[in-house]
Amino acid sequence: MKLIPWSLDRITEIVKLWNKELHNSFPMREELLKQNSFLDENVCLDGSRIAVDERDRIIGFVVAKRWQEELQVGMRKEVGWIQVILIDHRYRNLGIGKKMLTHVETIFKDKGIERILIGRDPWHYFPGIPHELEDTKRWFERQGYEQQGKDYDLMCNYDSSSIASTPDFEEVEFSLLIIEEKDQFLDFLHRCFPGRWEYEAIHYFEKGGNGREFVLLKKEGGIIGFCRINDSHSPIIAQNVYWAPLFRDELGGIGPLGIDANERKNGYGLAIVEAGVAFLRKRGINRVVIDWTGLVDFYKKLGYDV
Ligand SMILES: CC(C)(COP(=O)(O)OP(=O)(O)OC[C@H]1O[C@@H](n2cnc3c(N)ncnc32)[C@H](O)[C@@H]1OP(=O)(O)O)[C@@H](O)C(=O)NCCC(=O)NCCS
Repeated sequence: MKLIPWSLDRITEIVKLWNKELHNSFPMREELLKQNSFLDENVCLDGSRIAVDERDRIIGFVVAKRWQEELQVGMRKEVGWIQVILIDHRYRNLGIGKKMLTHVETIFKDKGIERILIGRDPWHYFPGIPHELEDTKRWFERQGYEQQGKDYDLMCNYDSSSIASTPDFEEVEFSLLIIEEKDQFLDFLHRCFPGRWEYEAIHYFEKGGNGREFVLLKKEGGIIGFCRINDSHSPIIAQNVYWAPLFRDELGGIGPLGIDANERKNGYGLAIVEAGVAFLRKRGINRVVIDWTGLVDFYKKLGYDV
């Protein structure tokens, strides 16, 4: 076994190995792997590695990231991420995973990384180790990593014959973003939700997004809330539809979303989710995922389950 550099030339084989191991829960597509593990500027090329056997067949890989973009969106330079580490099950318990992890840790140390997170990277796959991967969780614990909290993906299936309605409030309105509102919207995110959500919106517009993925909540012309809605026509494969190949029908995604802190507790939070769902359903989508959230009780009010 040897470790070789992370290389786009091997993408087909990497996807094949991923799907051999994880397809039932997390079906990978080349387009998604390329988007999240190659085109992301934050991939740490010295840290990321492919493990090959003596006949140059891929038996594992690890993708490491650290913040390398110029954008000022509050991402921390002292954090390193392991986006994914995967070993062919026939080659487990042979020290290959440990060797790859040590490689990443050494590179991170040299670059001044003080804290390593598993998942949660920019252009992530997972907000942490998937719950069902018990062995993986135990393995990381043995390497000295600690579990910190839990996040959930939620889903709701709608009856296609039911009518999706947008809530009605006298003082506010819900609308899809039009491209002329882009700067006003980015200012709103910068003010109310600086960080990852702002970062993702900036990239969305850079990739040619025209606004159909954002529902805005407006009061007297000003933006006071937003909800992102994703489907297969979005310019980016968004996080809540990563695993859409699990379903025969079109999958929609809700989130991120938020209400200006000064306007909370007026029913707008739930209402903007309902508005987002209504826009998706008008596009013929009857299955919707909300990913990476702790607000299980909040979304339960609208029929979402873990
Ligand atoms: C979560 C958020 C959108 C809620 O907005 P809001 O306008 O305050 O919420 P609403 O007024 O619509 O709340 C409606 C109901 O949900 C409940 N609720 C609100 N926030 C909740 C939370 N964090 N957890 C559980 N229930 C919550 C309310 O108590 C209310 O219940 P009721 O109908 O029984 O009275 C808002 O707090 C926010 O923007 N938070 C920061 C961003 C965020 O966390 N987004 C979600 C990411 S997954």
